[in-house]
Amino acid sequence: MQRRSFMAASATAVATAASAASPSGKIRLGVIGGGRRGRSNLRSVLKLTEDIEVVAISEVFEPNLQLTLEMVPNARVYPDFRELIEADDIDAVLIATPDHWHAYMTVEACKAGKDVYVEKPISVTVHEGQMMVKAARKYDRVVQVGTQQRSGKHFQEAKDIVQSGRLGTISFVRTWNYSNAYPDGIGTPPDTEPPADLDWDMWLGPAPERQFNKNRFGVNPYSFAHFRWFWDYAGGMMTDWGVHLLDIVLWAMAEPGPRSISTYGGKYALIDNRETPDTIMASYEFPGFVCTYENRVANANAGGLPGYGIQFHGTEGTLYVNRGYWEITPEQRRNRGGGAENRMEAARGESRNPTTDDHWRDFVAAIRDRSKPICDIEIGHRSTAMALLGNVSMRSRQRVDWDPASETTNNKEAQTYLRSEYRPPWKLEL
Ligand SMILES: NC(=O)c1ccc[n+]([C@@H]2O[C@H](COP(=O)([O-])OP(=O)(O)OC[C@H]3O[C@@H](n4cnc5c(N)ncnc54)[C@H](O)[C@@H]3O)[C@@H](O)[C@H]2O)c1
Repeated sequence: MQRRSFMAASATAVATAASAASPSGKIRLGVIGGGRRGRSNLRSVLKLTEDIEVVAISEVFEPNLQLTLEMVPNARVYPDFRELIEADDIDAVLIATPDHWHAYMTVEACKAGKDVYVEKPISVTVHEGQMMVKAARKYDRVVQVGTQQRSGKHFQEAKDIVQSGRLGTISFVRTWNYSNAYPDGIGTPPDTEPPADLDWDMWLGPAPERQFNKNRFGVNPYSFAHFRWFWDYAGGMMTDWGVHLLDIVLWAMAEPGPRSISTYGGKYALIDNRETPDTIMASYEFPGFVCTYENRVANANAGGLPGYGIQFHGTEGTLYVNRGYWEITPEQRRNRGGGAENRMEAARGESRNPTTDDHWRDFVAAIRDRSKPICDIEIGHRSTAMALLGNVSMRSRQRVDWDPASETTNNKEAQTYLRSEYRPPWKLEL
């Protein structure tokens, strides 16, 4: 709030490093990836026309390029995002491509002096995330991660309740997403030639060369794209949604990361060509508490609770939070008369702000005063790493002991999943 009032007082007086060259004083934004999330970010950006001007777009799939241009008809089009990143008259970039591109594009944008809004999860491997943090620091860039829940007022209240101690000693935190796509899930389309209006090689980028498959590309007008369910590009629900939930856990519990991770899961029910599990349970050990992430894609029963959320289980009560509200359910104790009484007051708070809009406002404010945004890249990296480690444990079939300070494990099998090779000519270097 303090930063916001400072901003209001000196709105036009503050010439920023990033936008100094813009005659209008606005931040000139280039968009990389005009898919579903790219366009939903643009809906927030277009509410900030006093501060941001969308000047460029790069997209390798013509139908998504056209949909994006309908929103920002004056934007210049760059078929190759590298030219957008190099352009002198762009101050900041939005990276809303599939996950396997995030690290390369972020590092290159930082090198070119751009500020960055990069979607979650920030990376496909832990090593990529480490490189992104280093690039942001080395080139002194503002890098906001699209874990926008932290900009939600009711999420901030939930975090404050957890940190106030009102829930007592919190020994267990549970996070989950449940749905049911049984039996065919995303189906099993055959490999084919890529469509003529897609640059498949530029979509694959640093990922291994692979024949086109409709599901690997995954763009679908009726759902979020299916690239999420293939290891070369993403990490399944563990990272796609897990990162949003685990991000709030690390924030509220004021922890840098787990000390060990054990995950079980597999593809037990769905009959489709996805690679990521339809059932997973990751357990994270912290000093003083255990945290779990559970995902089921073949059974949606959430035991009377919504299909996703976070529960902080304390000795005095349980706090549940999702994107709509938070709610405290008190624990009970026996009173002298032999009855039961609540250990704390029940309470509830509703969501009161569109979080992505405010996440962009936060990004703008950070660019203007060159401060760290609310989901600075290091925060986004830690939350992404926690989610990625869930997959590392499952895929290596190991309990992974983890040092969150050095971000290392002595477990040799697990180490092989912390980093992957880029397909030439792509190189991740500072
Ligand atoms: N913060 C949130 O709540 C939230 C919600 C949904 C998605 N996301 C994230 O946003 C990202 C995009 O997800 P989506 O569902 O919009 O995917 P999508 O496939 O619909 O969109 C990605 C777009 O990037 C384009 N693209 C791929 N490679 C490119 C390149 N080299 N240059 C230019 N464009 C390229 C694709 O053609 C596609 O149009 C993912 O990382 C996802 O996790 C975040």
